[in-house]
Amino acid sequence: MRRALAVAGSLNMDFVVSTARLPAPGETVTGHNFHTAPGGKGANQACAAARLSAGRLAVRMIGRCGYDAFGDQLKAGLAAAGADVSGVHAVRAAATGVAMIEVDAEGRNSIVIAPGANAMLSEADMEQSRPVFRGCSFVLFQLESPMETVAAGLEIARDEGAETMLDPAPARVLGGELLRMVDVLTPNESEARILLGSEPGEIEPKEAPEVARALHALGPRAVVLKLGHQGAFFFDGTVELFQPGYLVDSVDSTAAGDTFNAGFAVARAEGKGVAEALRFACGAAAISVTRSGAQPSIPSRAEVENFLSTRA
Ligand code: RIB
Repeated sequence: MRRALAVAGSLNMDFVVSTARLPAPGETVTGHNFHTAPGGKGANQACAAARLSAGRLAVRMIGRCGYDAFGDQLKAGLAAAGADVSGVHAVRAAATGVAMIEVDAEGRNSIVIAPGANAMLSEADMEQSRPVFRGCSFVLFQLESPMETVAAGLEIARDEGAETMLDPAPARVLGGELLRMVDVLTPNESEARILLGSEPGEIEPKEAPEVARALHALGPRAVVLKLGHQGAFFFDGTVELFQPGYLVDSVDSTAAGDTFNAGFAVARAEGKGVAEALRFACGAAAISVTRSGAQPSIPSRAEVENFLSTRA
C-alpha cells in the first residue's frame, strides 16, 4: 500500500495584481497585470505534495469551499495535480475563500484573505478525518483554519500515529499546549519573531541557531526555520542543520513557503534524512519563486530533481 500524507486547511482563489512597489497604508498605486490563480495555504501544500511525490504518496486534502465556481475550480485543480479531494466538502452558508495579493517588482507580496468557507472547517471535521489521519506519515496544518480546528486536528493526527507539521501562517502567538502537539514547526522569519513575542523582521543565518533553539523551547519536537532565499535551519533539540538557499531570479514568492513545507514532508515521508529533505524542499521552493501565482508556480518532482542535479 502507498504511504499517505494529508493536508487539513484552506483553499482560496487568489486575485493577484503585479505592481512596481507595494502601496503604503492609505496610498493607491497603479499595477500593471492581474490574474486569478488557485491558492490557499492548505491547498498549495496539498498540490505541492502531490506534484513533488509524483505518485509515491497518496495525498489527501481536507477542507471546505462554497457551492460556487471557485470551489469547483480549486477542487478540479487539486485533483489534476494528483490529490484526493473527497475530504473537501462544500457548504451553503459561505463562499469559497479568496485572497487579494499584490506582488512587487522583487517578487515580494502582501496578502489579505477573506476566509469564507475555510472558517467553517470544524473540530467535527477533524474527528471525521480520524481514519484518514490513521494511514498518514504526515498531516500538515496551517493557521488559515479556526484555531480550535487546528488544535483538534493536531491532537487527533498525533493520536493516530501521524507526524504533525504546523506552518504558523498567518503569523500569530501560539500557546505551549498547542505547540507541544507539533512534530515539525515551520515558521518563516517574521512568523518566528512573532512566535517569540518580538516585532516581525528578518533573521540572518548566523542568528538562526539561537532563534531555532528559542522556538524549540516553546514545545515543538523539531523546528525548521525558513529563511527565504537564505535557506533553512533545522533543530530538534540535538541535531542542528543548515541548508543554504539557491540563488534564482525571483518573480513571485507566493506559495514558496507552502512548496517548501510539502517538499520537506514528502521527502521525510519517503524515508529521506533531514539533510536531504531540506535540500529537496529548498530546491522546490527556489523553482516556485521564479514563476507567477501560487499553484501554477509549484514544480513537478522531475523539475526539482533536474534543478538539484545542477547544484551543489
Ligand atoms: O501561502 C500563500 C497563500 O496565502 C496564497 O495562495 C493565498 O491564498 C494565501 O492563503
